[in-house]
Amino acid sequence: MFITFEGIDGSGKSTQARRLAAYLRAQGRDVVLTREPGGSPGAEEIRALVLQGDPDRWSADTEILLFTAARRDHLEKTIRPALAAGKTVVCDRFADSTRVYQGVTRGDLRAKVDALHETMIAIEPDLTFLIDISADTGLGRAKARQTAEERFEDFGLPMQRQMRSAFLDLARQPRFAVIDGEGSPDDVAARVVAAWQARA
Ligand code: ADP
Ligand code: TYD
Repeated sequence: MFITFEGIDGSGKSTQARRLAAYLRAQGRDVVLTREPGGSPGAEEIRALVLQGDPDRWSADTEILLFTAARRDHLEKTIRPALAAGKTVVCDRFADSTRVYQGVTRGDLRAKVDALHETMIAIEPDLTFLIDISADTGLGRAKARQTAEERFEDFGLPMQRQMRSAFLDLARQPRFAVIDGEGSPDDVAARVVAAWQARA
């Protein structure tokens, strides 16, 4: 089973991916918890290239190539071997992030994103949790974190709003469960587990 978490910056994806992984392990599943961009040594190197530095460092087209290259390595080295071994993969961000960040908010590049996905990745998660939160709350949480990985957070509030709405558009597909991300981490984790149980 391949499970992903999506949402805007600071929505609580990483927190909730960790919590679900712990819950599933307690249920006796063999879980691989991973993230994008990254999740394999090569992809983690690409992560540093794309997430650090000036917001104008890469064009949107170049970014699509970098994120897809990272994803391909992650798929080859981490995701496919884990799924083939019968493990449950819980991944913090995946292709929906590229559809939203590169495909919508950085110019109308969705056709290129889709073409590259079909050629190089060609896999969709079985289940995607969209942690939905207001752009203000998300940006506030993300900014409070203070890391060097702020190229995308530097784009500001209007773009976070656009991204939230683009994620909600994608979430009309049946593989999505939309989770209200407001409230405490415990509140949100309980909603995730309830949605999981409803589908199991
Ligand atoms: P994301 O991976 O979506 O950016 P994180 O899980 O890293 O989100 O959370 C961003 C920040 O907000 C972290 O500092 C985290 O501890 C905090 N956080 C996560 N969930 C909540 C919550 N439900 N309420 C308040 N703060 C939260
Ligand atoms: P992440 O570490 O998940 O950031 P956060 O914890 O703030 O949500 O992801 C880093 C950034 O990379 C995030 O701003 C979104 C961006 N990103 C893309 O633009 N395209 C992609 O395909 C992926 C996976 C991430």
